[in-house]
Amino acid sequence: MEKFLGELTIGSDGICGDVNDYGEQEEGKNLRQSIASIVYSDYLDEIRTHHSIAVMDREIEKFLSQIPNGGVVLDIGGCWGWHWRKTNIQRPDITVVIVDLVRENLLHAKEVLKEQVTNKKVFLVHGNACSLEFEDKTFDGVWSVQTTQHIPDFSSSCAEIYRVLKKKGIYWDYGLNNATLIRLVYKLFRKTYHLDGVIDGRFFLRRMNDSVVRIVKETFHSEPVVGYSEILFTPDLGLPIGGKENAFLGNFDF
Ligand SMILES: C[S@@+](CC[C@H](N)C(=O)[O-])C[C@H]1O[C@@H](n2cnc3c(N)ncnc32)[C@H](O)[C@@H]1O
Repeated sequence: MEKFLGELTIGSDGICGDVNDYGEQEEGKNLRQSIASIVYSDYLDEIRTHHSIAVMDREIEKFLSQIPNGGVVLDIGGCWGWHWRKTNIQRPDITVVIVDLVRENLLHAKEVLKEQVTNKKVFLVHGNACSLEFEDKTFDGVWSVQTTQHIPDFSSSCAEIYRVLKKKGIYWDYGLNNATLIRLVYKLFRKTYHLDGVIDGRFFLRRMNDSVVRIVKETFHSEPVVGYSEILFTPDLGLPIGGKENAFLGNFDF
């Protein structure tokens, strides 16, 4: 078994590891599990309503350009694994380990990434970002999209990310921003613009705030770089503009 997987073994469903205790994320996990039972004929058509595929495809190119030859990358909360669907062409030297709290999401990832999973270029791990089962300094890069925003105990997940990253490793994390304009539109229509906490007893969401930046700074002992993308893409307003793969407006948005 690959060294970076440590003690983890691959189960009969092709997924490594197991989570038995979901702690304060139990409710969120149950909700995501029920959503994961839906069968999709076109994954990207569903994804483009929640994420700008065009923007994220460009972001992952930037991220991969900073990973050394033969590097191993960890995706925290990788879900369906769609960010890595072109990695076998763009960077066949790289191995990706996708961790997710919901095993059923990883079964979808197996469908999306097919050969990459069979060929052991992508490994799927059922695990919790707050207690990763990897050795210290295992990964060259950690990538995470709209996941740590759902973890109530961000300090624990951030400490784990720091622990499993190599000294020169990079950590890129994308989350929802507290967007002033959209917040005003919500106010105009008397709708609640959720900033931090559990939404209607269903799942936890914390939009980017100063405390997140402070935790990263204190954990990594360096100043994080904060940037913005996806300005046109506003699913919050029911307007997933330019979200499609290769969309002209999406590339402009990047
Ligand atoms: C909004 S989805 C984003 C999925 C994916 N990163 C993407 O860009 O499509 C959040 C994902 O994080 C996972 N997740 C939430 N909490 C987690 C945790 N503590 N550890 C690992 N994964 C977690 C969820 O199961 C879900 O698949």
